[in-house]
Amino acid sequence: MKYSNVTDGIYRLSAHIHDLLFEGMWPLPHGMSMNSYIVQGKEIAIIDGVCGWDGVPETLFRQFEERGLSVQDIRYVVLNHMEPDHTGWLVPLKQITRGFELVATPKALRLAKSFFGLDESFCTLHPVKSGDRIDLGKGKVLRFEEIPNVHWPETMATYEESSRTLFPCDAFGSFGAIREEAPFDDQLSESELAFFEEEAVRYFANIVAAFSGPVKKALEKIDSLDIRVLAPGHGIVWRKNPGRIVELYRRLAEWSTDPTEPEITLLWAGTEPSMGPLVKAAVDGAHGEGVQIHVHKVPETHISYILSSVLRSSGVIMGIPYSSDPLPSPLAHALDDLGRKRMTGRKFFWFLQAKGLEPEGEQRSEALVEEIDRILEKYQMRWEALESAHIPRHTEEIVYQQTRALAMELLAGGAIKGHVQELVGAP
Ligand code: FEO
Repeated sequence: MKYSNVTDGIYRLSAHIHDLLFEGMWPLPHGMSMNSYIVQGKEIAIIDGVCGWDGVPETLFRQFEERGLSVQDIRYVVLNHMEPDHTGWLVPLKQITRGFELVATPKALRLAKSFFGLDESFCTLHPVKSGDRIDLGKGKVLRFEEIPNVHWPETMATYEESSRTLFPCDAFGSFGAIREEAPFDDQLSESELAFFEEEAVRYFANIVAAFSGPVKKALEKIDSLDIRVLAPGHGIVWRKNPGRIVELYRRLAEWSTDPTEPEITLLWAGTEPSMGPLVKAAVDGAHGEGVQIHVHKVPETHISYILSSVLRSSGVIMGIPYSSDPLPSPLAHALDDLGRKRMTGRKFFWFLQAKGLEPEGEQRSEALVEEIDRILEKYQMRWEALESAHIPRHTEEIVYQQTRALAMELLAGGAIKGHVQELVGAP
């Protein structure tokens, strides 16, 4: 990796990771970048960092040297966020230099001591709060803004006043490794930008969605800043159109609890011969109304992608096979995870494949309603079931019509509820 010039006196260092699960949970088929930034005035500050895995901090130190700087030149180490993907490098750092000032919120400084033993014996602890500034000389001034719980409690953003560059760490980040020669939005094609936006949706759904309330508060603070360059801890640097990723994050924070997109996610379990015709009927029903439907079979599909789909969907369908559990565990786990991530305010229905088992299917429907309601209430998910959801026998025709009804409700913003019964017939 090579360092790159972001703007006058600001440089981006970066390391990439591939072939692992981020946080031990989230797939990275396209890798991921961890960005760190040097702000060079008379004094040198480094903002955020990289993980501490083998060879990664050394990559950062090498880029420092390529820039003609020495790690010993660092006066300020600014920690916007303490999660180890941005701070693991502090362990090797403290083995080669000391005496720098560690700049962070008081909570973050406590974590730095606890995680890495960084205390007054190694560095000067420099607590900051919203509005505090550090003048680096030569016109470079850092200002700090606390943005707690995006997605850890100690989080802040740093703003460089002369270049109007915001360093928000995880906020506005994405999965996906940057091409070394093209880390900026002004170097990317529309399809490449769309790729990073899609990976930002998945990143938000996986990492940040449960904190959409604090994200909205952070956006209010950030709205007061004149941002010319947005330099996040993950993903590309936005210097042509930073408003594009800010607006995407604004929509994602909204969709988390109050989705507006007329899209449907269908989760189904079971076997293809048994469930396939019903799944196809649902797909045909959505397409018949011109509504996009994302189909995921569980447990084969990783929850990372299910969260991403449901984040952008205001409708959800569950396709349930008749089995020993009323709600088979892969579907129960998926619904539970959606609750944990606070994906609230969806419209939904489920269909049960119980062909030839009609009396048992009717009893099973009652048990299903209980089980689904239990999970929805546990997380106060505010999911609204279509009135037609409790019918005892789900034929292909009924699933097709139910999906059409759901699609029409989503297109109409939920205003045509009565039409559902009209389409599928009262049970
Ligand atoms: Fe990129 Fe929350 O760490």
